[in-house]
Amino acid sequence: MAEKLWGGRFTESTDRMVERLNASIHFDKRLYARDIEGSIAHLEMLASESIITDEESTALKKGLLKVKEKIESGSMVYSDALEDIHMHVESELGKECPDISRKLHTARSRNDQIALDVRLYLKDELNEILALFKKLQKEIAKLAQANLDVVMPGYTHMQRAQPVLFAHHMMAYFEMFKRDTQRMEDCLERTDSMPLGTAALAGTTYPVNRDLVRKLLGFSKMAENSIDAVSDRDFVMEFISSASIAMIHFSRISEELILWSTSEFDFISISDAFTTGSSIMPQKKNPDVSELVRGKTGRVVGNLMSIITLMKSLPLAYNKDMQEDKEPLFDTVDTLKACIDIYTRMIPHITVKRENMYKACTQGFLNATELADYLAVKGMPFRDAHSISGKAVARAVEKGCELQDLTVDEFKQFSDLIENDIYEYLTVESMITRRISYGGTGYDNVRNAVEKALSNLEEQ
Ligand code: ARG
Repeated sequence: MAEKLWGGRFTESTDRMVERLNASIHFDKRLYARDIEGSIAHLEMLASESIITDEESTALKKGLLKVKEKIESGSMVYSDALEDIHMHVESELGKECPDISRKLHTARSRNDQIALDVRLYLKDELNEILALFKKLQKEIAKLAQANLDVVMPGYTHMQRAQPVLFAHHMMAYFEMFKRDTQRMEDCLERTDSMPLGTAALAGTTYPVNRDLVRKLLGFSKMAENSIDAVSDRDFVMEFISSASIAMIHFSRISEELILWSTSEFDFISISDAFTTGSSIMPQKKNPDVSELVRGKTGRVVGNLMSIITLMKSLPLAYNKDMQEDKEPLFDTVDTLKACIDIYTRMIPHITVKRENMYKACTQGFLNATELADYLAVKGMPFRDAHSISGKAVARAVEKGCELQDLTVDEFKQFSDLIENDIYEYLTVESMITRRISYGGTGYDNVRNAVEKALSNLEEQ
């Protein structure tokens, strides 16, 4: 029977299947560096408060670094019997410092230890995710900048609606990823709270100096309530929830890139390096990256369902259920990082087919609103102008032409207000130029938005 670090009161050995169910080492081993970092800070504090001696602290810290080396060299042997990363590190420390290793866990519980490890882990990952999001935003803005004058149909209900600048459309995604970045920054703030020293749930009888540990580990604030400190996983839920929203954004851009790559749309092409072929149909060039990212949205949203269901109705304080928080968390971190990274790499490989986009703007009555606005400016109430424009569209459909192909005489059958100057209002360029409202697709607006975006990123 492998001796358990908690085995004092037990006389029977653990059932093999219980051991397997209980073990989290196969996933929580990725926390080893944070676990050791936390233990080193804990030891420094124990010595500074004379809870252990300086010599003990120094020897244990050295021992922990040896354990870290062992893990990093790949020679650590993991076993379900030792449950989790905390027990593995401690048991290995026992080989380095047999006489004193059992002092490491003074004034500490695995409950506050795991809360610390996960927070340290997520803080690092959030900083990486923030950096990745910045790079992605930059590539989006650069693609917009390189195509500032490209016009495409804007859609509502998947029907051609009004022309917009392609850059404006891309900058909509820039805004989404900007909000994702802000949500991650927010989440970082709540993750940045130091739980160690709260022990199992009630605090500890030792004269610990939690603030010293906080400073040593670089946390900006302290978890204020010991019961909350060991049972709070809001930051995990918040992260996966923010990641889910980001993935929803990725699924939307993916869907569009997939559609635009079809021969039906033919608005873009993605270079060979970011597409794949079919094993049977030689002509195929598939937008797999976008399809995979769209598909991965499902697993992240699934992780969100897992974590919020896991936390629902859990009584205070720590419950073993909470060990199940890690797999959804780790999977979300890995998936989100991979998706941001692959999109950052792929975006420069998108070629915009400007002629096809432009042609699509000249078919399908995208200028019907212009005709209505033209009449409204001349004094007709907008609702009436809308109705007149609708009648003109119906006439053009009947004739099998576009609005701009109707003659002035034909227009005049609907309203005397329509003169020869109508044609300049109906061009694609005029439709863009005249959209002058702040945040709209007008050329100046979009150029300013792109420049502002790039210079803000530069400043950060
Ligand atoms: N492996 C555990 C987890 O991830 C660590 C905390 C265990 N605490 C306990 N009292 N058994 O949640």
